[in-house]
Amino acid sequence: MVRIRNLRKSYGSYQALRGLTMEIPRGELFGFVGPNGAGKTTTMKIIAGLMRADSGEVVVADRMLSGKTGQIREMVGYVPDFFGVYDDLKVQEYLEFFASLYGMDGKEARRRTAELLEMLGMTQLRDEMVDGMSRGMKQKLCVARALVNTPELLILDEPASGMEPRYRRQLKELLQELCAEGMTILISSHNLNELAEMCTSIGVISKGRMVMQGDVPTLLRRQRETNPYVLQCLSFPEEAIQILKSDPHVKNIASSGTNISFPYDGTEEEAAELLTALVAKGAQIVSFYREEGSLEKMFLDMTTVP
Ligand SMILES: Nc1ncnc2c1ncn2[C@@H]1O[C@H](COP(=O)(O)OP(=O)(O)OP(=O)(O)O)[C@@H](O)[C@H]1O
Ligand SMILES: [Mg+2]
Repeated sequence: MVRIRNLRKSYGSYQALRGLTMEIPRGELFGFVGPNGAGKTTTMKIIAGLMRADSGEVVVADRMLSGKTGQIREMVGYVPDFFGVYDDLKVQEYLEFFASLYGMDGKEARRRTAELLEMLGMTQLRDEMVDGMSRGMKQKLCVARALVNTPELLILDEPASGMEPRYRRQLKELLQELCAEGMTILISSHNLNELAEMCTSIGVISKGRMVMQGDVPTLLRRQRETNPYVLQCLSFPEEAIQILKSDPHVKNIASSGTNISFPYDGTEEEAAELLTALVAKGAQIVSFYREEGSLEKMFLDMTTVP
């Protein structure tokens, strides 16, 4: 759905995007995560056709983005990270206004507005003034607005940042539903854990470059594999240490007292065989487990603030 190659964008002399390459397959719920200033908003605006890159290739739905931004805008829904000011408009009028911009007549616009309000659980707010609403409510309204024309690609720039946990969950469920119905979705956040919970794929951006991209199960597995195994023992004879040292999957053995830890890149079956061999050589092992790390730590290790 989206293919980006070697994208560059500078603001004055500051290089915000430095050769960014990424791919979002059709039907994916893609999480875009990175620290402040990494280039998420810049990338999303370029994909949405709201900003031009300096160089590089952007293909959205098999169409090269070069000059034809109007066409792209019709099939992309964009939820910005800020909310403009709309004086004297009620929620319902606001959505009907956007529906009319997409060419719907009055009746069709009212029907679509009612549908969207229902979808976002905002029906009872239809007569509220937009400007008087809370930040979280405005963010929800922005999501409704972006969905007015049922876009093929929905881009959301930190839509959940001002939402309470209940709304976050609602949003997550809505996005998963839309994705199941065939929409491709790109959503950004600072929080890798939150995205890993809802998305099918994740891309991590740091200083204008993609530092990691993949589907969530692979990401979680890779994260687990970087955590060391820990052995707590009552005794650990020399023969057992030799077994550890000769196992090709065991790296950098570290010990403190009766605790031994080592990074391990074998499978769980191989780990089980290793444990059996250690016990057979007389090691008295109290516990044997892979240390739990967090996605958050992996994120911090991978990224730096520009
Ligand atoms: N209009 C602008 N003029 C000058 N510099 C800009 C402009 N917009 C963005 N930048 C700079 O480009 C870099 C990337 O900004 P961008 O907004 O894309 O990051 P981001 O990943 O969305 O950050 P955040 O998580 O804070 O929203 C930042 O260093 C930012 O200061
Ligand atoms: Mg941003």
